[in-house]
Amino acid sequence: MRIGAISDLHIDRSKDYYPQDFEYILTNEIKRLNLDMLLIAGDVSNHYLQTVQFVQNVKHHSNIDVLFIPGNHDYWKSEQDDKSSYEIFEHYKSQPESIIGNPYIINDDWAIVGHSGWYDYSFADHEKFSLERLERRKYYGSTWLDKEHIDWGKSDLEMSKLAATSVKNDLEQVKDKNIILMTHIVTHKRFAVPMPHRIFDYFNAFIGTSDFDQFYETYPIKYSIMGHVHFRSIIEESGVQYICPCLGYQREWRTQDLETEMKHTIQIIEI
Ligand SMILES: [Fe+2]
Repeated sequence: MRIGAISDLHIDRSKDYYPQDFEYILTNEIKRLNLDMLLIAGDVSNHYLQTVQFVQNVKHHSNIDVLFIPGNHDYWKSEQDDKSSYEIFEHYKSQPESIIGNPYIINDDWAIVGHSGWYDYSFADHEKFSLERLERRKYYGSTWLDKEHIDWGKSDLEMSKLAATSVKNDLEQVKDKNIILMTHIVTHKRFAVPMPHRIFDYFNAFIGTSDFDQFYETYPIKYSIMGHVHFRSIIEESGVQYICPCLGYQREWRTQDLETEMKHTIQIIEI
């Protein structure tokens, strides 16, 4: 079985390509790579209706299973819609493609568990910044934009703990199988932006969480897919392959060609 993974498509942020182009090119890649399933680790767009539509269209056109968890951008509120962040979360959760709180059993040997996860500030330089300073989510004149577009009514540290609790429940259900874990937020510090760094000593606070560390020791997680940091890399540690398959913004691409970039981004797990 060939499972493809991709993240951070940001289909609404390209200067040269329309969302339909992303759909068409991704569907072609699924066929060319002969994938049986696609995992999308969040940040499809800045609007939940567009994100859900994209996931459904890719599933429909490719005719394979597409599983999805939202990224922070997928939770952003729009001015035309008064849905709260929590209502948007519930909307995602009710989609058949969502695996939040709903592990996907592939077969007797394999299962997929997923959640957006949330950042707990633990990746920042804590010698330089206090918790109060990080909670302001503003540094060097730049604001971490989730502050303006998402309101959970809870602190980020509480949100990270809630996500970890949900994932732990799901892991318990499938602990007799090999597990593929999918999050949007980074769960391994090696994917943080290398420090010291002029601004990421601060902004790494919003990249990852340490609340999942124990899961890698306790449960048979073989693959961990994550997005958010816009890297494309794989690391292997203690029998776990950590995969960050981010397409990222067009301004971050090496070429300006979407098809080439997608080819360089999609990672394949063979089980
Ligand atoms: Fe992103």
